[in-house]
Amino acid sequence: MKILAIESSCDETAIALLERKGDGVYVEKNSVYSQVATHAEFGGVVPEVAARLHVEKILPMLAKDVPHNGEGIDAIAVTAGPGLAPALRVGVETAKTLAWAWNKPLIPISHLEGHIYANWLVTPGAQEQKTALENFTPPTLPALALVVSGGHTELIMMRAHGDFERIGETLDDAAGEAFDKVANMLKLGYPGGPKVSALAKEGDAAAYNFPRAMLDRDNFDMSFSGLKTSVLYTLRSNDDKLEDDQFKKDICASFEQAVVDVLVKKTIKAAKKFQPKTVLLAGGVAANSALRERLAEEVQKLGIAFIPPERAYTMDNAAMIGAAAAFRADQKNITANPLTLEVNTNLDSFNTYES
Ligand code: KG4
Ligand code: ZN
Repeated sequence: MKILAIESSCDETAIALLERKGDGVYVEKNSVYSQVATHAEFGGVVPEVAARLHVEKILPMLAKDVPHNGEGIDAIAVTAGPGLAPALRVGVETAKTLAWAWNKPLIPISHLEGHIYANWLVTPGAQEQKTALENFTPPTLPALALVVSGGHTELIMMRAHGDFERIGETLDDAAGEAFDKVANMLKLGYPGGPKVSALAKEGDAAAYNFPRAMLDRDNFDMSFSGLKTSVLYTLRSNDDKLEDDQFKKDICASFEQAVVDVLVKKTIKAAKKFQPKTVLLAGGVAANSALRERLAEEVQKLGIAFIPPERAYTMDNAAMIGAAAAFRADQKNITANPLTLEVNTNLDSFNTYES
């Protein structure tokens, strides 16, 4: 089954063409237009600007990669939420129009479920399709997924395809949001995660002892707003050092270490309780090297498999949305009415749509 997938929940306009092959989803085309440079001027994503750019880009991108009459495409998948409503609406309305005009099934997908399914993507790279598929090992279920993005930080138990339970989440800021806010305080620009992470590599993680909230609680919830405030107070009481490069690097390293500590400790605690066969990492913050390395180390100590996602698929893309839809296709009630589907900014990773 060939799927056309569309993603426009935030500041990336993305389309992909994919086909499920056994336990992997083979990516035939994957195009992402990142609006980051435009939003950087404003210090963050401006929803109306994002929506406008999606409108400008989405049809030319489709026209370039997809047969104009929809030939060969069996279903259309689209991110229906969560995300920025004006941005989501562009992808959703485009998908509805194509599904209606081409008379194809329309599959709405949660952005968070998509991030998890990035771990099932098979890319050709330099290899032939057959070799890529032979070399692919799908994650074994049940899996515990740490989803860390700009808007969400959640621990999800995935017992089977389509069977998700959120067992913990941040009670305030998302991990990526904390990275972006600290970058903002240090005037590093947007998006902050990669910038903070690059400086952290040259800093001393023991320089500042930032708080690790909720580690003693007997649950899998997290909190990052106290950590962010603590960084703010440290910057205020060291305002003579704000232009000092080593000071910035030490702040970044100490902050990153605190975030990684919380994420890894909560994930390991959940892994011990739920005994998954695999631990998965998903979302934009999954590109963070410190997190990937620490998590790999700690998960392997438990004798559980850890497969870090390909960096290219950690950031927002449509391939992951298509992968989620490819597995949803085995289930009932997965399609939406192309005349009435609406965006749902509160969509959970385990919500399904009734047709
Ligand atoms: O998943 P994503 O592309 O968009 C959302 O669904 O939110 O995640 C974007 C987030 C941003 O907050 C960005 O700063 C963060 O991921 N991020 C990182 C890194 N790369 C991206 N955070 C920490 N370290 C990184 N290397
Ligand atoms: Zn995302």
